[in-house]
Amino acid sequence: MTQRKGIILAGGSGSRLWPITMGVSKQLLPIYDKPMIYYPLSVLMLGGIREIAVITTPNDQSQFQRLLGDGSQWGLSLNYIEQPSPDGLAQAYLLAEDFLAGAPSAMILGDNIFFGHGLAELLAGAARQESGGTVFGYRVADPERYGVVEFGGRGEVLSIVEKPEKPRSNFAVTGLYFFDERAPQLARHVKPSKRGELEIIDLLESYRAQGTLEVELMGRGFAWLDTGTCASLLDAGNFVRTLTERQGLQIGSPDEIAYHKGWISEADLVARANIFGKSDYGRYLSTLLG
Ligand code: G1P
Repeated sequence: MTQRKGIILAGGSGSRLWPITMGVSKQLLPIYDKPMIYYPLSVLMLGGIREIAVITTPNDQSQFQRLLGDGSQWGLSLNYIEQPSPDGLAQAYLLAEDFLAGAPSAMILGDNIFFGHGLAELLAGAARQESGGTVFGYRVADPERYGVVEFGGRGEVLSIVEKPEKPRSNFAVTGLYFFDERAPQLARHVKPSKRGELEIIDLLESYRAQGTLEVELMGRGFAWLDTGTCASLLDAGNFVRTLTERQGLQIGSPDEIAYHKGWISEADLVARANIFGKSDYGRYLSTLLG
């Protein structure tokens, strides 16, 4: 199988967080001690993905480049793609078609935060699948805000509906999508919805109709955090702070993951720690050295 490539979708106007996001992209806002995009980037890295495209608005692209560079500091290759107007999540596959060049993909929304014991194994399982798609279902109290998956008696996926008024289950589809190499081709057949967007749900439906969509449940031990409102943004930051301070371990550190995976050397990590100097993040990186 061609090496799976990653996509981080970090476009959008962030209008639900205005005025905060009038001057800065939502995915660059802090979640406690790190920029939001570090968290989804870390998830792709945990899944073993090293070639990644970051999709942003044309306006915000230079700021993402300033923050993340070409990825070589983490043993990654980062590419940047512009999304001129936010026309739906499925559009990402059209924009990234040349980047993917026939490779299977894992796309994560730049504002989705995942945390949980066993996350790496869950990702590895999805990454191993050679054909079809895998998404993750997570129980939430307010499913009407998300894509909602309905299961049959044998656990089969009966339907997936975007923001239904009357949800048929409490399982939301999270913003993490593993697809085989056909995703761009199938995205081309997706027609704009009533709100004028190429909906990811329609792409999921193409896979489901062919019987090639897996929905893996993320159980109680996982946190899938929302950052869509001012309150949930603050809650996510507090969650990260609580765990980080309690355990003395970082959540969502690309430097730590790259080091543990052997993608950067000890000398590289020392250099990184020096860059961050006396910040808590820099001090933390120093503690990782043998
Ligand atoms: C999008 C998807 C939705 C999914 C959600 C996860 O919604 O359309 O199916 O459940 O992301 O974050 P949005 O956040 O764009 O409203």
